[in-house]
Amino acid sequence: MNLVGRHLIDPSNFSLEEIDHILTIARDMEKNTRKYSEVCKGKILATCFYEPSTRTRLSFESAMLRLGGSVLGFSDAANSSASKGESVSDTVRVMDAYSDIVVMRHNREGAPKLASQYSSVPIINGGDGGHQHPTQTLTDLLTIKNLKGEIKDLKVALCGDLKYGRTVHSLLKTLARYENMSFYLVSPEALKIPSYIKEYVVSNYNVEIIETDNLDEAISKVDVLYMTRIQRERFFNEEDYVKLKDSYILTKNKIQPAKEDMLIMHPLPRVNEIYCDVDDDKRAVYFYQAKCGVYVRMSLMANLLGVLDDVDCK
Ligand code: NCD
Repeated sequence: MNLVGRHLIDPSNFSLEEIDHILTIARDMEKNTRKYSEVCKGKILATCFYEPSTRTRLSFESAMLRLGGSVLGFSDAANSSASKGESVSDTVRVMDAYSDIVVMRHNREGAPKLASQYSSVPIINGGDGGHQHPTQTLTDLLTIKNLKGEIKDLKVALCGDLKYGRTVHSLLKTLARYENMSFYLVSPEALKIPSYIKEYVVSNYNVEIIETDNLDEAISKVDVLYMTRIQRERFFNEEDYVKLKDSYILTKNKIQPAKEDMLIMHPLPRVNEIYCDVDDDKRAVYFYQAKCGVYVRMSLMANLLGVLDDVDCK
């Protein structure tokens, strides 16, 4: 397994074996966190965030600190030289000298990919516009693996803003690669999954996809319900957002017909698409999911930095 020095821009950059390897080590990191507490000593993570973030940036920071490394970076384009007109490619060329690995979030689709073409250190895409979010997908996979045992034979509903939601783009592309998976894509007509993603999945993998605007139809049938926020910041006008913002609201009542062991997931932040009365339900796993994000990012960075040779990871 050679992940050393690689970039992670799109989930398809890694094979399923490589993803499973990252998940396996993440599970050991969760159980035996102290064993890894110095593996990144002397290493520096740069967090280049041109867009707001709570979980992604802070879980990357927490992950690097738990591995014994250090962190520097910016959390707002206004605090960086981007506000003076500097290009992503120039910024990243100097990041090489300041750090050993970079995570970048950008409002422009493709910015982390461009950065990877100018960087000699690994670039991780922390979310690029309405495009992809591969490390959220690793987080989601670890959550499912930990709670379901295996990632296969699952019916999954992805619900909400499937047009602009980068988490669901990456998740659908990746889950489709596992054995015997089927999907309900639940969204209003105006927020359907982009056809380039649907066509990619359908033409490459043998999966069943049902597109519907009816959440009730899916809720009793699925093993995983993945809710998402309507992505206000990607709309061209506020009026369209207001029309669609309350499309799906999950309540205690609404999940009555669901399977006993259905997982209710959400990448967070939520606005009002899951009522707080759902939080106490044992099927609601979104806060646990956020915790998985730390271990999977520890594993990802340790693998890309090649610091695990002397550690017994099993
Ligand atoms: C998501 C994102 O930034 O795409 N958040 C996250 O990283 N956990 C989801 C969202 O903002 O809706």
